[in-house]
Amino acid sequence: LNLGILISGRGSNMESILKAIKKKKIPINPAVVISNKQDAKGLKIAQKLGVPVEVIESNGFKGTRAEYDKKIISILTKYRVTQKNGLVCLAGFMRIISPEFVKKYKNRIINIHPALLPAFPGLNSQKQALDYGAKVSGCSVHFVDAGMDTGPVIIQAVVKVNEKDTEESLSKKILKEEHRIYPEAVNLFARKKIKVSGRRTIIS
Ligand code: GRF
Repeated sequence: LNLGILISGRGSNMESILKAIKKKKIPINPAVVISNKQDAKGLKIAQKLGVPVEVIESNGFKGTRAEYDKKIISILTKYRVTQKNGLVCLAGFMRIISPEFVKKYKNRIINIHPALLPAFPGLNSQKQALDYGAKVSGCSVHFVDAGMDTGPVIIQAVVKVNEKDTEESLSKKILKEEHRIYPEAVNLFARKKIKVSGRRTIIS
């Protein structure tokens, strides 16, 4: 099984997954890290960990979303991350992916979101949770479907929100849980322990 990780920035979730693989905790080959931004910090981390990196700059890209995603798919294919033998992890990848991409990799693309879905989808979820006055928030690893943060949930983790929390402190607490559950979800996938049944996932 070959893993492709898509990033746009810091890459801390990518790092947590790659480190778990290095420690032989997850039976998957870290095939490639792809960024849509040339200057993503995570690219250096991936290189240090010996994982091939590729960039398809999205800034100034002239074609459609589907055309951009075709380029991503061709790189994934080059590294054998396929619809039969691949897993794609979105890890802070700040782009919506096309229905064509989702369809081609049906139930093989997963994402991490820093809130308890379906609450606070989209951007700035930690701020959304604070502004709403939620007493708990957390993070969700889910399959990617054609909607925005709407696919079947694989794992969620809860953190408490207290009066003193700021966007920064809450983000930090949530990120700690992200780094725990994302590698765990990849591991479940790699060991074929996740079944999707309608909106639900069944973990064995
Ligand atoms: C994380 O909070 C993740 O949940 C969200 O984007 C952030 C990415 O951080 N999708 P990093 O690049 O993994 O450090």
